[in-house]
Amino acid sequence: MQTLFWLLDKDSPEPDIINAAAKIIINGGLVAFPTETVYGLGANALDGRAVKKIFAAKGRPGDNPLILHVSDLDMVYRFAGEVSDKALILMKKFWPGPLALVLPGSSKIPKEVSAGLSTLAFRMPDHPVALALIRQVGVPIAAPSANLSGKPSPTTAGHTYSDLKGKIEAVLDGGPSGMGVESTVLDLTREIPVILRPGGVTLEQLRALVGRVDLDSSITNPEEAIEQPRSPGMKYRHYAPEAPVILIEGAEEKVTAEIKRLLEDYGKEGKIVGVLCREGNQDKYPGSVCISAGSYQDFSSVAAALYNALRQFDQTGVEVILAEGVEPTGLGLAVANRLRRAAKKIVYLA
Ligand code: TXA
Ligand code: MG
Repeated sequence: MQTLFWLLDKDSPEPDIINAAAKIIINGGLVAFPTETVYGLGANALDGRAVKKIFAAKGRPGDNPLILHVSDLDMVYRFAGEVSDKALILMKKFWPGPLALVLPGSSKIPKEVSAGLSTLAFRMPDHPVALALIRQVGVPIAAPSANLSGKPSPTTAGHTYSDLKGKIEAVLDGGPSGMGVESTVLDLTREIPVILRPGGVTLEQLRALVGRVDLDSSITNPEEAIEQPRSPGMKYRHYAPEAPVILIEGAEEKVTAEIKRLLEDYGKEGKIVGVLCREGNQDKYPGSVCISAGSYQDFSSVAAALYNALRQFDQTGVEVILAEGVEPTGLGLAVANRLRRAAKKIVYLA
C-alpha cells in the first residue's frame, strides 16, 4: 500500500485535507495524525474490522485496549456506559488536554477497542488537526500512539512515517508534538481514582482538583507491573531503542560518577556507548555518543526531547545506552516512568 503524506497548517488545517483523511477513516482505513502529546494512529471506533488493522499495522498485542479520541463531551455521553460527576469535573478542567479517563464501557463500541475489558478510555486531544479530523468523522476515533509496538512513541510525522509507511493509508503532518509524552491514564471506575499511566496532566494537578488520587503499583514498583498489570499496556517493554538502556537513578553527582565508571569499563571492552544526559552534562562523558534530553530544571523540555533522543541513538550504532535518571515529581514522574520502562536494567544509587 502507498502511504500518503499530507502537510497541514497546524493552526488552521486545510478543510480539503481533513475531508480526504476523514473519508479514509469512514471507509475503514487508517490515518496517523498529530496530537499535543504524540502522534496517534486512528481508525473509526465503531468499525471493529478497521480497529483490528491498527493492531496488525503496529504489531500490537491484541489484549492492549485503545483510547477513544473525542471532539466534544457529547461523544462521551453517547458511548460511555456512565459518566460520573467526578469525570465531568475532570473533563471540564483538563480537556482538551493530555488526560485519558477510564469509564464504564458500553456495547455500542466494538470489543476490539477495549480488548474485551468492560471499560473504555476517553480523551479529547488539544490539537486543531486532531479535533478537526474527529469532528469531520463524526464519531470517536480509536487511536494508540502511531509507532511500531515497542518503539518510542512518535513525536513527529517523520517518526510515524518511518515506522508505518506501506502499512497505513495516510500520515497528517501537523508539526512536532509539543508535549512529547503521552496522556495520563486515570481509572475512574473504582472508589478512589487511580493513575494507570503518568502523563501530561500531573498527579499534583489531579489531587488539587479531586482530592485523593492513587498511583497504580506498576508506577511505584515497575518490576511488579510485569506480573499483575491493571492497564494491559503496562506489561510490555516500551519506548526502547535498539541498544539496551541502563538507567541510573539517584543524586546527580553519584549518577555522573557511576556513568563515568561504567564508561571506563565498556571502554576496555571496546564498546560504543551512548549517554542520555541532561543539558549541560555532555562534556562530562568524553568518548561516548552523548545526546541531550533537555534541561532537568524544566521537565517539560525533557518530555519534549525524550522520544526523539531515544530514536536518535538508533542512527549512531551505539551498543549500550546509559541514561541519567529523572526525579519523579510533577511531569518528571511521566518521564521517569518512560525511562524505567525503556530500561533493560535500573541502577538505584541511594
Ligand atoms: O497521549 C496519548 O494518550 C496518545 C495519543 C495518540 O492520544 N495515545 C496513546 O495510546 O498513548 P496508547 O495506545 O499508546 O496507550 C494507551 C494506554 C495503554 O497503556 C492502554 O493499556 C491504556 O491506555 N488503556 C486504554 N484503554 C484502557 C482501559 N479501558 N482500561 C485501562 N487502560 C486502558
Ligand atoms: Mg503507545
